[in-house]
Amino acid sequence: MSYLHGYSKDEQKRLLDQARFLESLVFEKVDFLRCRHILEIGCGVGAQSKILLSRYPQLQLTSVDLSDAQIEAAKATLSSELKEGRVHLQQGSVYELPFHEGQFDGLFICWFLEHVPDSLKALKELHRCLSAGARVHLAEVYNTPLSCFPHSVIIEEYWAKFNRLQQTLGGDPYIGIRLRRLLHDAGFQPITAQIHTICLDGVLGANAIPELKGNQFERFSALELKNQFLDYWVETLLSGLGQLFEHQIQFSFGRTHQEVEAAVRGEFTKLKNDSGSIFHFSYATAAALK
Ligand SMILES: C[S@@+](CC[C@H](N)C(=O)[O-])C[C@H]1O[C@@H](n2cnc3c(N)ncnc32)[C@H](O)[C@@H]1O
Repeated sequence: MSYLHGYSKDEQKRLLDQARFLESLVFEKVDFLRCRHILEIGCGVGAQSKILLSRYPQLQLTSVDLSDAQIEAAKATLSSELKEGRVHLQQGSVYELPFHEGQFDGLFICWFLEHVPDSLKALKELHRCLSAGARVHLAEVYNTPLSCFPHSVIIEEYWAKFNRLQQTLGGDPYIGIRLRRLLHDAGFQPITAQIHTICLDGVLGANAIPELKGNQFERFSALELKNQFLDYWVETLLSGLGQLFEHQIQFSFGRTHQEVEAAVRGEFTKLKNDSGSIFHFSYATAAALK
């Protein structure tokens, strides 16, 4: 299977770093306090699973991923939780889950639907596995408005090709705006869905940005905050570089893997070194009940 980010060791480490870095954004509105056994789909290397189990000590978790390599890596991430019997890891596809109807009282989805060709079919199969009143939380990408000042034609070209490839592979990098519609059509209600837009301009600090307020980002100055996110985002962009080259996508600013990587990194370094630069991105979250 072709998957935009691939399954290299570097990518598996990036997922662990990403989960820790974005924890307060992803989990801001998550509430599984009254749940006992939840399902996590597209668990990857178990990065979010670990956070879920530490935030909710009462939880039993069943985490599923299509890839054997991810499940193997998740076994290492979750070795102590596996020993304690708190998590069950399962290789499988979201379209055909080996669970009976109403087996779980919660569902967690993070950076997953964006990679699935038929996200409505996936949500309907997940809906089947949930009990009445089960709680669902999602965090997904909304890649349209990533932009910066000074404007970078290199980042713009790279990002357009990254998102185009994700679509070619059957995914949807703009799925964030569809979460309410998809949840509704899969039979969930009520639903709350939100697009979060973060504009880091080196002026506004974390305490003035609702999504970043009151969490680990507050210790950074406005400039450091922007740079933290620039460091995070450059790795996210470059996580697709292997697949871009495998699919023979060409760039106007570099021929080889190394040239393209150096050019993209160079643009992010320029943004970091410019105290007047601005970086703007979005993501989406949703919550619903069965
Ligand atoms: C970007 S990763 C997200 C991993 C994890 N949720 C996190 O936030 O760290 C997406 C995962 O979805 C898995 N995946 C893709 N298609 C799938 C499918 N049809 N069924 C189950 N898992 C799938 C991939 O193998 C990959 O591990």
